[in-house]
Amino acid sequence: MEQRTNSPYPRLDKPVLAIVGLVLVVGAVLFTINDREHEWRYYQYQFRRVVAEKLGAEKARTVPSGLQQIWVPSLGHADRCVTCHQAVAWKGFEAAEEPFRTHPAEPLKGHPIEKFGCSSCHGGQGWAVDVGPAHGPVEHWEEPLLGTQLGTEYSLVDNKAALMQMNCNTCHRYDRETKGAEMINLAKQIVNARGCRACHVINSRGGTIGPDLTFVGDKAPEQYEYGRLSGQRTAFAWHVAHLKDPRALVTDTVMPNFNLTTKEAQAVAMLILSWRKSPVPAAMVPGTPRTDPQTAGERAAEEAMKIGPGAWFVKTGCFVCHSIAALGVKSPAQIGPDLSTAVDDVQSRFGRTVDDFLASPTGTMSVVLSRQIILTPAEKTIAVQKLREAFAEYQRQKAAGKTPAVSSH
Ligand code: HEC
Ligand code: HEC
Ligand code: HEC
Ligand code: HEC
Ligand code: HEC
Repeated sequence: MEQRTNSPYPRLDKPVLAIVGLVLVVGAVLFTINDREHEWRYYQYQFRRVVAEKLGAEKARTVPSGLQQIWVPSLGHADRCVTCHQAVAWKGFEAAEEPFRTHPAEPLKGHPIEKFGCSSCHGGQGWAVDVGPAHGPVEHWEEPLLGTQLGTEYSLVDNKAALMQMNCNTCHRYDRETKGAEMINLAKQIVNARGCRACHVINSRGGTIGPDLTFVGDKAPEQYEYGRLSGQRTAFAWHVAHLKDPRALVTDTVMPNFNLTTKEAQAVAMLILSWRKSPVPAAMVPGTPRTDPQTAGERAAEEAMKIGPGAWFVKTGCFVCHSIAALGVKSPAQIGPDLSTAVDDVQSRFGRTVDDFLASPTGTMSVVLSRQIILTPAEKTIAVQKLREAFAEYQRQKAAGKTPAVSSH
């Protein structure tokens, strides 16, 4: 009796212990049930059944069980996708449902999974073993599975599964063309043909009127100004809208409207978002040298124009945006009007002489002449003289009955 009264909680001793014990037991049971209910156990069970049906019980016993992972040290990825996607390397399940389907052979030929894992191409959270977290999207995780679901959410107009090509291009950015990445290839063609480099540095080559785009894909989604954007507020949606009509989002921009179709704008937005400081080691990035040099053809055309009558415009860099047809200068991008008739056009368009225009330019030229091509007053005098020479040559050719094909703006 006395001993008992010494204890401050004499009567609670046993019940507390009992409850604590019960909680522990229930917890352990719940934990086990919960773990058993991990979806992957179900998928492994199902796959073993599928294998047994098709190839017999003995084969089914060779299906590995428990967590599976591909550890790719060079990428720092531990991809557990194969815990559910067990059929990846099996033959004969090409027509099965996911996740029990054999992987298409073509993409893995040049990229064995031991070296590339899964998430380097597909995105997703490699270490996760439940469908939701593995495929995403998950908050604070920027790399959801680049599959048909996200492609549908992003309203891709063409191939809903194309987003994966962004990941292809974090490694293949220096290829002119990559088999299997058709949207990216289309975008690369557009970037070349439309002369984005006239204003932007991309892979260490280009102009300085717009921002350097080499790593623009690293810009966080919160860093974009969404005020003028209707609909989804994602970096992807911002770029598609900006590419379709730059002024709709940035009212005072000099970036031209290239009249891209939705598909083209989506392709270029994918390319832009793939321009990231890649976490991939240099040895896994094909393409040498690691820049996009001009092709031999582009270089030859430029060299030929440098010794022709329009040499000044080529050497000064005006030809990056302007053709001068009367002098045989063809701009690769043709972002501005042909300068053969500028002397006349500036007068009729702005009611100013071309001398006056170059002395205090407006629009794109005010940015060009203050950021990209800095001309001294003496050089501006030469520019005016060259523009007059071009116009004289244009009039001479016209009088001779062979008007040069001056592209109107
Ligand atoms: C982690 C970097 C990486 C990723 C991601 C990647 N590749 Fe590659 N790819 C390589 C490397 C490295 C090679 C081998 C190049 C070599 O041998 O010169 C290669 C080779 C290729 C080849 C030529 C060999 C072949 O398989 O015929 C093609 C085509 C190709 N990749 C397309 C793709 C496509 C399409 C994707 C996206 C689905 C992709 N790559 C994703 C790094 C990558
Ligand atoms: C080199 C890049 C690359 C790697 C690495 C890669 N895949 Fe794929 N995967 C592809 C391509 C490309 C397709 C085919 C898409 C198509 O044809 O529409 C594909 C298709 C699939 C599909 C079928 C999707 C569908 O549209 O039916 C699944 C599932 C899949 N991969 C899972 C995996 C898993 C799991 C791994 C790792 C073991 C992996 N992949 C590794 C590029 C890759
Ligand atoms: C817990 C099991 C599980 C894990 C882990 C898992 N998947 Fe899946 N995956 C599935 C199931 C089930 C489907 C088919 C249903 C669906 O699309 O959600 C699927 C479908 C896919 C598809 C086809 C979807 C499409 O766009 O057509 C791809 C690609 C894919 N998984 C890739 C991956 C990659 C990459 C990983 C690792 C980062 C991964 N999965 C991890 C279960 C899993
Ligand atoms: C005449 C010059 C000019 C040309 C040509 C041009 N841009 Fe731009 N670009 C700009 C300027 C100036 C900005 C900054 C203001 C803005 O966002 O519009 C810009 C902004 C951008 C941005 C946003 C960058 C960021 O950090 O937010 C992207 C992406 C872009 N341009 C892509 C392109 C692509 C792709 C092309 C070719 C199809 C192209 N630009 C052609 C001038 C140009
Ligand atoms: C980055 C592209 C770019 C470069 C480089 C460039 N321009 Fe322009 N220029 C334009 C654009 C675009 C216009 C059309 C007006 C506008 O959009 O503001 C223009 C307009 C002009 C005009 C007015 C022509 C007219 O018909 O209205 C003259 C003159 C001109 N530029 C001269 C030059 C000269 C000289 C150089 C070289 C020193 C040069 N430009 C370099 C983009 C460029």
